[in-house]
Amino acid sequence: MLVLKTLEAPFLQTQNTGACVEHTIVQIQKMDIKPVIVVHGGAWAIPDDLAESSKDGVRYAAKRGFSVLANGGGAVQAVECAVQMLENNPVFDAGHGAVLNAEGDVELDAIIMDGRNLAVGAVSCIKNIANPVMFARTVMEKASCSMLTGAGANKFAETMNIKLVPKEELVTELAIKEWEQYQKYKQSVTCLFNSEQMHDTVGAVAIDNEGNVACATSTGGITNKMVGRVGDCPIIGSGAYADNFTGAVSTTGHGESIMKVTLARLVLFNMEKGETPQDAADHALDYMVNKVNGRGGLITVSKTGEWTARFTTKRMAWASVKNNVLMYGLNPGEILNEVIHL
Ligand code: GLY
Repeated sequence: MLVLKTLEAPFLQTQNTGACVEHTIVQIQKMDIKPVIVVHGGAWAIPDDLAESSKDGVRYAAKRGFSVLANGGGAVQAVECAVQMLENNPVFDAGHGAVLNAEGDVELDAIIMDGRNLAVGAVSCIKNIANPVMFARTVMEKASCSMLTGAGANKFAETMNIKLVPKEELVTELAIKEWEQYQKYKQSVTCLFNSEQMHDTVGAVAIDNEGNVACATSTGGITNKMVGRVGDCPIIGSGAYADNFTGAVSTTGHGESIMKVTLARLVLFNMEKGETPQDAADHALDYMVNKVNGRGGLITVSKTGEWTARFTTKRMAWASVKNNVLMYGLNPGEILNEVIHL
């Protein structure tokens, strides 16, 4: 049954009709929603020699994601497209450019979530897949579960004809350099992250012209991580969350800290209490610093198209597009903008 309402209400309501539970789709009145996309390239102490390429990378990804929305595409398609662009860019820790684990191997995590119905696909510890976000979407749409890990995930990828690539194709000189440095000094992951010398994660959030939100996050994790370690990225509510009732979030930073405070869901919880996206983000990030001494960043878009990009690390490359205006930044407080022509 399709019931059209013009109320501010959850998109998907459940009505108990006695013998069975009937799902009734409730369409929220869409008050002139403008499509928005926001992307990030990871919160960390980005060195000066990667600053320009990081900014260029997020600008390109935001423009590509926005062109999906501008051509009538949905939020899920837009975040998948934007994150793929970031995975393909060796500057970022995801897909090509992913960091190496303690044995010098590449193990990748990713998640994608659809705010219309809370559908989610997540993959962890996968190998030889250049675009984990695309695979996460396949899990969301084709698997009988929400998350697949390790060998089982790779087996499912083969049955779905997901292209496998040699590990060498994903490994960059920078990833090897970082790995050798950390091997030499044998620093712990916590120690490394607190020094913020840690490459980290990409993500995107979007709202389309129907008012539907979505998010996606993808990562190689943390350099020198234990074999089999899974960070926050593919954990629902930690690395990402999307719900048309409130908005969408993608996070980045120290995975163990993010998981402890379920950072993405915490931001939406703050917004549900009436906070603006910026206050909700800042309060959640402050909570993570104060409670577990963890640093990171996040991007979020609300159900009305308000967005923000916030971080507690030295830098985070981010970019957004709304009303054909591209905004981007890297340093705290930095907001640059330009008009784009699609
Ligand atoms: N934020 C990515 C990770 O900790 O794995």
